[in-house]
This record gives sequence, structure tokens and C-alpha cells, in this order.
Amino acid sequence: MLARVWSASIVGIDAVKVGVEVDVSGGLPGIVILGLPDSAIQESKERVKATLKNAGFAFPMRKIVINLTPADLRKEGPSFDLPISVGILAASEQVSADLLGDYLFLGEVSLDGSLRPVAGVLPIAAAAQKMGIAGLVLPIDNAQEAVVVEGLAVYGCQHISDVVNFLNHPERYKPVQMNDITEASQTGLHHLADLQDVKGQAHGRRALEIAAAGGHNLIFVGPPGSGKTMLARRLPGILPPLSFAESLEVTQIHSVAGLLKNRGSLVRDRPFRSPHHSASGPSLVGGGSFPRPGEISLSHRGILFLDELTEFKRDVLEFLRQPLEDGYVTISRTRQSVMFPAQFTLVASTNPCPCGYYGDTLQQCTCSPRQREQYWAKLSGPLMDRIDLQVAVNRLKPEEITQQPTGEASKSVGERVQKARDRAINRFQQEANLRCNAQMQSRHLQKWCKLDDASRNLLEAAIRKLGLSARASDRILKVARTIADLAADNDLKPQYVAEAIQYRTIDRMQ
Ligand SMILES: Nc1ncnc2c1ncn2[C@@H]1O[C@H](COP(=O)(O)OP(=O)(O)OP(=O)(O)O)[C@@H](O)[C@H]1O
Ligand SMILES: [Mg+2]
Repeated sequence: MLARVWSASIVGIDAVKVGVEVDVSGGLPGIVILGLPDSAIQESKERVKATLKNAGFAFPMRKIVINLTPADLRKEGPSFDLPISVGILAASEQVSADLLGDYLFLGEVSLDGSLRPVAGVLPIAAAAQKMGIAGLVLPIDNAQEAVVVEGLAVYGCQHISDVVNFLNHPERYKPVQMNDITEASQTGLHHLADLQDVKGQAHGRRALEIAAAGGHNLIFVGPPGSGKTMLARRLPGILPPLSFAESLEVTQIHSVAGLLKNRGSLVRDRPFRSPHHSASGPSLVGGGSFPRPGEISLSHRGILFLDELTEFKRDVLEFLRQPLEDGYVTISRTRQSVMFPAQFTLVASTNPCPCGYYGDTLQQCTCSPRQREQYWAKLSGPLMDRIDLQVAVNRLKPEEITQQPTGEASKSVGERVQKARDRAINRFQQEANLRCNAQMQSRHLQKWCKLDDASRNLLEAAIRKLGLSARASDRILKVARTIADLAADNDLKPQYVAEAIQYRTIDRMQ
């Protein structure tokens, strides 16, 4: 007999419906899986066989052919264990097949028949709802992740026998409800960090506020121990919270990457990722034979923090250029090409030279000009060109070090940031894709960043003196727009442009 069960596979961060057709017929006992399965699916043959026996079902000693459709899509992972098991049970008439057309099944099975959670449930639930599927049958530990999507009945099961009971007597089961922990946030350590603890560094704090208000990329340059890392880690604390739609997007990416620590809760905090400088290209931008999102996508709608930027391999940094411009990354494989969103704010920190003390007031730099040149050459012009705010962080003065911190707390800085962002959103009403000033394109600049004569002269002089590119000059306009928003001003006045220009001077100082 033939049975068809529906499941789904992840492509990029979207889901594709996959049919699991199971035919049990006469012939020598054996089991084959067709339709481009990966090795985890091949292994499920043995798993399913042992599971069904252990759970008290009969494993048909006949020829079993399992076909995964569409045939040209590569399928991966252990989430097909459950649909394959259900298909075998239905094809051997051990379970009612009436409901099979209405539900998607996914889950890994253990040898004792219990169901184990799988990655990527949220995007599958979102896709199932769009396809008009009645509901999902999945491991109980994945249930809360799926109920976030409205209009979908989710049945969480602990054991394969629960799935069988559900299919035979659906009227006895109720869909899972969203419970309170769904609202709980996945708060990371960085939330404990408050700007209040930072002594001095008025310049660095101002840059953080501008970066938060406009979504601008930022680099801190300064000697060791001056507080660069400390400042950067406080950026998430002054950013506005994620909206529900953003939160769903972020959770979807983390779900595909299998990183949802707290299954069943949406990621409510802006991502803050800080990969180590030994990170490889694929771990940063995404990759693998079944492409997985990399750090830049995991920091979508949040912050990618590259501490000690010059320690990263140059070719790895070059990978960042395109996503920084486009807000997404495309990964091509022979059989498929997937796109991952990557709208992140880049925050970096570095010393000004190999010894770390170039420009320091107390300690003499011991590097030769050539060493310094080589050091900066690593941060290619194109990458630095994409960083709007280049900020020198100087060492604290002795009297500042010994004093108690007197700076403003993150909460009140965050309120100003929110006001500035609201101004920008108000302006972008007609432009659905724009969320902050850093995302403006040339045509938006023509509309919203008009310069008066004095400002234009200032900018022209800076372009000439600093040898700035057209991109750098566009970025100055965007930063100036954010500074004006923070000052609640509709016009770009010369003082805003002047402040924006001084954030472009560091890479020219060497
Ligand atoms: N402005 C500051 N206010 C208060 N504490 C500070 C400040 N700057 C540095 N510190 C103290 O020094 C420690 C080291 O600072 P941090 O790690 O931010 O330095 P860094 O500039 O990143 O140095 P490196 O270049 O070596 O990475 C902090 O954890 C903090 O305890
Ligand atoms: Mg540091």
C-alpha cells in the first residue's frame, strides 16, 4: 500500500514542503530512500526500524520504498524520522491515513520512540501557515517555537505512540497554546552593561549615540585599556527594542542555525555577535553544503562586533564588503543558491598601530612608519570606506581614572536615540524598506540631505583635503542627517556636517 505524509525542508531561511511517499509491497525485505537524501536521512532507515519495534509496532518485513519529493531538492537532517515512521505505519495500515493530507510532520526519533527537537521549526511553521496547512505535528520541545505563528494548530508529542493516537483519535487532542515563557526574553550578558560605568570618553559616548540613532557602522581606535571594548559592548543597551516583525525575522534565522537556547521564546533582544578573530570566511558570512547563516546573518537587525579588527584575516574581512552594502548575502552552490538577510551594524575596535600607542600622550610609540603603514593596509580602503564613524578613543587622564564614573545612564541616552529614530521613521513613511538613516540610498539623500551653501563648501573642502570617495561623502551626509535628528532639526546645518566630517579622519592620519 502507498501512503503520503507531508514534511518540510529548510532552504536558506525559508521552508519548502516535502512529500514523503512510502510504498510497502511484496518482495525481499529491505528499505530504500530516494530523492536526494543526505546521510542523516539515510541513517534514519535504521533508526526508524529500531524505534518502531521498540515502541511496540510491527516493522513490515517487506520491500519498503521511500520517495522524497520534489526529487531535485537536496534534503537533509533527522527531522524526516517522524514523517518516515508515520508513512511506514500508514502504508502498513497500523495508523489511520485520514488526516495525513492536512498536517506537516517533523521530528527526530530516539530508539525508544521518544521525539527529539529539531532546528528550523519557526520558518517551517511560517511557511505552513502561508501554504494553508491545517497544522503541525512535532516534538513537544519544538511546540512553543511553532505556536508563535498564528492560525496554525500545533500538536506537540512526546512519543511516537502519541502521534499514532492523535492520528487515530484526533478529537481527543487539543492544539498546544502559547505559554507565558514565550514572552520571556533571551537576555544576554551584554544587557548588564550600562553606559553609566564608563568614565570620561565623552567623544566615544557621543559616537555610540549617533551610531545607535542612525544605525551607522563604527570603529574605535585607541591604545590598550582605553575602554574600546567596554564602550562597544554598551551599544545594545541604548538601541530601541526589536519590533514584533523584526523579532520574528531574527528568531527565524536563529532557528535555522539551531541556536534557539530558549525554545519557544522569540528572540526579543537585538543580536550582539562578537566572533573571535580566528573566524573563517564561511563562519562569518555563512556557508556549508547545505548553506547555514553565518555571523553576519545572526547579527541581522543587531550588531556585529569585531574586536581587534586588525587581527582578522584580510581575506575574511573582504567578505564583509558586499553584505555591508546590500544588507544580504547570497551563497551559491551547484544545486541551489540561497540568500540570507544581513542588515547589521558593524562595530569594530583596533589599536592605532602594532605596539598600540601611536598618538598616545603618555607612552611613546615604538613602531616605524612602515610598520604602521602595513598595519593599516590590512584594513583595506573599501572596508574603512564603509565605516561611517571612525572614532579615536584616548587613554583616560589619571584624575579621570581615580574618580567615580559620572556619565549618563544607558536608559536616558536610549530615550534620545528612540526620539531620533522616530523622526527618521516618520520621514520614511513612503519608503517601507528604510528603517534608519544608514540605509538611505543616493535618491533619498537628494531628498532629505539637501545642503546649504556653507555646508556644501565645508564638504567640498573635506573631500579635497582628505581625498574622500563619493561613497564616503554620501556617508558623511547620512551621519549629518542623524546628528540633525538627534538635535530635532529638519535642516542639515554646517555644524552637523562638520561633526560628521571629523568622524572620517582617522584612516587618513597614518
Ligand atoms: N573609560 C573607562 N571607564 C571605566 N573603566 C574603564 C574605562 N576604560 C577602561 N576601563 C577598565 O579597563 C578595562 C579594559 O578596558 P577595555 O577592554 O575596554 O580596553 P580596550 O580599549 O578594549 O583595550 P585593548 O586594546 O587591550 O583591547 C575595562 O574592563 C574597565 O574595567
Ligand atoms: Mg579590547
